[in-house]
Amino acid sequence: MKHDTNRSDRPALSRRDFLVAAASTSLLAATGLPRFARAAASAPAPNDSGLPYPMNALEPVVSARTVEFHYGKHHRGYANNLKKLIEGTDMADASLETIVRQSVNRPDRAVVFNNAAQTWNHDFYWNSLSPKGGGEPPTALKTAVEASFGSVDACKRELAQAAIGQFASGWGWLVADGDKLKVVSTSNAHTPLTDGLKPLLTVDVWEHAYYLDYQNRRADHVQAVLDRLINWEFAASNLAGGAH
Ligand SMILES: [Fe+2]
Repeated sequence: MKHDTNRSDRPALSRRDFLVAAASTSLLAATGLPRFARAAASAPAPNDSGLPYPMNALEPVVSARTVEFHYGKHHRGYANNLKKLIEGTDMADASLETIVRQSVNRPDRAVVFNNAAQTWNHDFYWNSLSPKGGGEPPTALKTAVEASFGSVDACKRELAQAAIGQFASGWGWLVADGDKLKVVSTSNAHTPLTDGLKPLLTVDVWEHAYYLDYQNRRADHVQAVLDRLINWEFAASNLAGGAH
């Protein structure tokens, strides 16, 4: 699988995020987790970014044990499955985003799509959270949020409703649709990336994201994530970045 280093459609990382991600490499190596091929000496691509912080960095909202399973088993499982699925095929050298785009709504590539999109979504998800998250968005994003939702609180309420109300497994997203921001939800592995929308941030509401810590209290988990972990800086950098 090829990792483009200059793609304008890649979720942008701030210099701080990149430095934190780079610092986490040794931590991940120490855990013995399988590594998806890493593009050396470049900012991490969405499918090989690893965790941009230590496993316990999201506590107490998300426990280290949840991250160990969520990242170490579920996310890495999708990435490893994908690697096996595309080996020796015409998709072997394609970027992750290309694989997602070229396998969506293709019954003959349904398994590839599920594993590729879940890998992309999870890479995006870990960057949508930050130990220093929550609070107010950066000014440019705040202005855009207020123009579309009226207020940051109204945006958070709509995002919470979408995430909590997503039936069964799925995702809540803040996206840009042209000049307007809006909230959408997707089920299973589906991603707004293939709907002509630019993802800004996401909240994972598959049970594996919260069940060890919150059991069936999805609403409590989502509210805590939005109040204390959501990475507005990541969303702002995506908004400022190239179109998807
Ligand atoms: Fe997940």
